[in-house]
Amino acid sequence: MAKSVRVGLLGLGTVGTGVVSIIQRHQKELQHQVGCPVEVVKVAVRDKTKARNIKLADELITEDIEEVLSDPEVDVIIEVMGGIDATKNYITRALQQKKHVVTANKDLLALHGAELLKVAAENGCDLFYEASVAGGIPILRSLSDGLSADRITKMMGIVNGTTNYILTKMSQEGSSYDDVLKQAQELGFAESDPTSDVEGLDAARKMAILASLGFSTNVSFGDVSVRGISEVTEADLYYCEQLGYTMKLIGLAKRDDGRIEVSVQPTLLPNAHPLASVHNEYNAVYVHGEAVGETMFYGPGAGSLPTATAVVSDLVTVMRNMRLGVNGQSVLVPLHEKVLKEATEIESQYFLRLNVIDKAGTFSTITSLFAEYEVSFEKLLQLPIDGEELAEVIIITHKTSKENYENLYQRLTNVEVVDSVQSSYRVEGGK
Ligand code: NAP
Ligand code: HSE
Repeated sequence: MAKSVRVGLLGLGTVGTGVVSIIQRHQKELQHQVGCPVEVVKVAVRDKTKARNIKLADELITEDIEEVLSDPEVDVIIEVMGGIDATKNYITRALQQKKHVVTANKDLLALHGAELLKVAAENGCDLFYEASVAGGIPILRSLSDGLSADRITKMMGIVNGTTNYILTKMSQEGSSYDDVLKQAQELGFAESDPTSDVEGLDAARKMAILASLGFSTNVSFGDVSVRGISEVTEADLYYCEQLGYTMKLIGLAKRDDGRIEVSVQPTLLPNAHPLASVHNEYNAVYVHGEAVGETMFYGPGAGSLPTATAVVSDLVTVMRNMRLGVNGQSVLVPLHEKVLKEATEIESQYFLRLNVIDKAGTFSTITSLFAEYEVSFEKLLQLPIDGEELAEVIIITHKTSKENYENLYQRLTNVEVVDSVQSSYRVEGGK
């Protein structure tokens, strides 16, 4: 074992400063676990002159990434700068130079994870990425270690803190979407461009990573069907509450007979569902395994120290592997070919809100259409709309196939008795 393990850092922003802080403050515990000191020997940033919330000798900081990558002293690269193409190239080169890599980069992993893991294995190096999904929750390690004996059939996650914060504040305090999004940006959960949060892309990247590991297959970002929360209205949230549901942006990964579906969408959960009580910026992942049954993991999904805890814990694993001489041996080649479900195989309940013409015969037309597509009602609420010859109808369906539901939805948008389809969401967690 080396006299010390030397770390090169790419990035010293929110997560990077947390990593340096933990390495500095927890040095004694780290040495106890890995048997030698851990040193940060080089750090690449974009702008050296920027004020930082951390004490680090000036000579360790550089604006030249090559200085970190090519430093023969560096054993492990921690990549916490973000980015895709250039960063993929840096990580690949680091691995080819036999440097182990720890990253928090979900954007990169969701697109090129399988390829990078292959490069790591070929070079006898570790590549760990716990922080890329649900920040401080050790969910990837739980899937690959704690639940490794089981066959995972379903994962449901609240894996984006920004959208959970927005939906919580809109539902519980009646705040407006724009105001709460601004608060989430000020509090530092939202990405610099919050489109990837609110349109579900950030959650979709995390679900691709989770599904790949949980189902031992190669799920990419493009395999995830995505819808964000930007169309969710205060009225939708009001009716959810009236019917006993809570709206969450849910990442769902399901496997039935080897066929999988992965999606991210605003979803109604019965109030008694364990994920319905995960509020504000918190994340949680519900995992169902054939043998273990239901489990749930809860915690902070973002932020400097929670995310850095995941990064430094990966670093500890790398160092333990160095001591045992087994780096690069924990990369698992996916066991299964990816087979995505067809729309006929995806089953769910749905919430549908319609404005209908308030006259005799309207309901008969609507129920005939539901019967034609074999979709049945579980719950139904009709309310007059003041001052208009319209009524608001809210329906929760029984389980039906995605194909039948989408065909029914199309017909409802074109039938004379329906003035407008106001909204439609998936419902999970029912019978
Ligand atoms: P950040 O605060 O924007 O920090 C990025 C850091 O990288 C900065 O120090 C920046 O330098 C440096 N950097 C960026 N481009 C560079 C380049 N071309 N050359 C050299 N340095 C460069 O980002 P962050 O929030 O820490 O996120 C880092 C990574 O962790 C991302 O992949 C993110 O998706 C992931 N992540 C973040 C969180 C979170 O809670 N923030 C949670 C999970 C995962 P300057 O400081 O000089 O600008
Ligand atoms: N923008 C992300 C979120 C940060 O809101 O969850 C953590 O990945």
